[in-house]
Amino acid sequence: PTVLLLNGPNLNLLGRRDPAQYGTTTLADIEKRLVELGGELGVEVVCAQSNHEGELVDRIHAARDLDGVVFNPGAYAHTSIALRDAIDAVPTPCVEVHISNVHAREPFRHVSMTAPVMSGCVSGCGVHGYELALRHVVWLIGQNG
Ligand code: DQA
Repeated sequence: PTVLLLNGPNLNLLGRRDPAQYGTTTLADIEKRLVELGGELGVEVVCAQSNHEGELVDRIHAARDLDGVVFNPGAYAHTSIALRDAIDAVPTPCVEVHISNVHAREPFRHVSMTAPVMSGCVSGCGVHGYELALRHVVWLIGQNG
């Protein structure tokens, strides 16, 4: 099985961007760790990041041919009906990750457009949330296979 680790806008800056909120781990570190954990769990993890909404939509469409998605939509979680519709249109299970606890932050981060069509959400567990989401996706793949 193959799982896509997809990160949205500004997450390429992880490690340098607001470390109080997001920590000092870089996106490269997270991707390396998830590929490694995927190996332990028996799935291939492929990684992508984009700052562009349309490219993220295309990536979700292409995930139709994959087995699962771990997705941090960044700020697009709060705004993007297009991403929500894309996730809704593709049967592949997708789990949403937010590094920070979005519910403890500004009110505009309390709403996620994408969360209602996700197979699960992890928020506020730091970068460990990506590992939790991958474990859940792998569990879902086992349930469906
Ligand atoms: C984030 C939370 C979003 O509100 C924010 O816009 C991000 C990062 C997180 O991982 O905590 O870019 O998705």
